[in-house]
Amino acid sequence: MARLKVVDRDGIEHTVEGRTGLKVMETLREFDYGVAAICGGMCSCATCHVYVDPQWQPRLPPAMSDERELLMELSHSQPTSRLSCQIEFTPELEGLRVTIAPDQ
Ligand code: FES
Repeated sequence: MARLKVVDRDGIEHTVEGRTGLKVMETLREFDYGVAAICGGMCSCATCHVYVDPQWQPRLPPAMSDERELLMELSHSQPTSRLSCQIEFTPELEGLRVTIAPDQ
């Protein structure tokens, strides 16, 4: 099992199974404490916003321009912000830790 660590909006950390080959968002939206992912991964809603643990950030592929532009519009955006629908979970990301960002 490839683990994914998720810190919810109450600060509680959960360890869940990350499904390789799928976007991180697709795992997170299955949980009550997860993300809404209203646009279904089309990079247009930002309801899948997460903060990536700083130690993991350099290990992720860089955000594309449309993701960066959307993140820049968010009031809760931070340097470690990513849209989880743009992160494919791979075996190399075993143990990835993300924090669900506040609602906009
Ligand atoms: S699910 Fe809408 S931007 Fe990620």
